[in-house]
Amino acid sequence: VRNLSQTSANQNRNSDSKGFISPNSQAYSSARSSSVVHDYSLAKEKSRQVVSFYNQTAIDAAASKPSVRLTPATLLYTGKTPDGNHLLRSAQYLHKELPVRVAHRIAEFRGLPFIVGCNPTILQVHELYIRAFQMLSEFPQIKNHETEHRYCQMVKGLLDDHKDVVTHLAEGFRESKKHMKDENMIHHFLDRTLTSRLGIRMLAEHHLSLHQDMGDFIGIICTKMTLRKVIEKWAEFAREQCEMRYGFTPKVHITGHTGAMFPYIMQPLDYMLPELIKNALRATVESHLDTPHNLPDVVITIANSDMDFIIRISDRGGGISHNIINKVFQYHFTTAQDSTDPRVTGGTFGALTNTNNGPTAGPLCGFGFGLPVSKAYAEYLGGSLVLQSMQGYGTDLYLRLRHIDGKHESFRI
Ligand code: ADP
Ligand code: COI
Repeated sequence: VRNLSQTSANQNRNSDSKGFISPNSQAYSSARSSSVVHDYSLAKEKSRQVVSFYNQTAIDAAASKPSVRLTPATLLYTGKTPDGNHLLRSAQYLHKELPVRVAHRIAEFRGLPFIVGCNPTILQVHELYIRAFQMLSEFPQIKNHETEHRYCQMVKGLLDDHKDVVTHLAEGFRESKKHMKDENMIHHFLDRTLTSRLGIRMLAEHHLSLHQDMGDFIGIICTKMTLRKVIEKWAEFAREQCEMRYGFTPKVHITGHTGAMFPYIMQPLDYMLPELIKNALRATVESHLDTPHNLPDVVITIANSDMDFIIRISDRGGGISHNIINKVFQYHFTTAQDSTDPRVTGGTFGALTNTNNGPTAGPLCGFGFGLPVSKAYAEYLGGSLVLQSMQGYGTDLYLRLRHIDGKHESFRI
């Protein structure tokens, strides 16, 4: 469950009682507060951000440059030099690249319809990117290991400061998209923002991990990933969530090419797999409420080929009915709150404790982000996410992803 408490605090900082923005209010409210030194520097930083809403030359210049995207094979085969020169080169690439990518994000925030861009939660994320741009673009050239070390510290801090961005965007758009007629626009904004963010975070984490000497890893790339083990880990996690939520959980049976081992990047799988397995478990339990001790297994099949690998998740959870099948890939679409059966809601007590606070791993369902984000990630990684519903019986979900070993053309990060 992500920390959303900052949201309301931020709402107060950014908006008056009607939710309109008064740009200077942040600097004001911070400066008014009594813990002088800290708040003064916070106010100074904040007012710098506000100024940058208007003083946008540097952001515009960076946003007009194309990003330089790398293939995973480039990351994988970039040689390691004993003097650590590869670290300097990698940091220099990031130093040039990250401000450009962050500027592209800011340009997209600026392009949002006024009513949406004014939402305090969305504005908070927008400001976070402006702050990141300033920090990244003002950082001095990286010419030695000491500067490179400081650069890593800053990037680590930024990764942490941005960890709740998806939750905040989910919240912000849920509130503000009711003002929008054209849902497509928000869909594309979220697709682009979330996939670009995935790329930015992968590059940043790759660089940071190059410092560690971990057996089967080169940066973020696991050179010998056994897919079955990754699936097992997330199946166990999802089963625990399911058990906590309903008191019951189906077994997960993994079959197919269970010995397949190849280089791959864990991060996107760590988002997609728990989301997709949770959906299958939930559907299974909710469609077998009368026979909870006799639940059909969820079956996950691995198929590995030269070009790609496919993970099929099959459940017997009743399928997705015709009237909602076209909606399940929309952001914010969820049936999590639809059931009135106390065995699903957990009664009054359950309904209170099961409210979902975020669109990622924790709770079982509720934000309507699992499918659309996973599809966007899969496509960004040169693959696809396709659903086949057998109404009344169950669902098959096919997650197809491209190999990154450089033998075939690959996606770029
Ligand atoms: P959430 O899990 O937060 O509801 P998702 O985007 O993961 O969001 O799923 C959206 C909706 O799609 C779910 O609420 C559910 O109604 C439907 N759905 C997804 N997967 C399945 C499945 N395997 N079987 C039945 N319905 C499913
Ligand atoms: C994000 O996670 O939203 C980022 O873009 C991270 C980056 C500023 C280092």
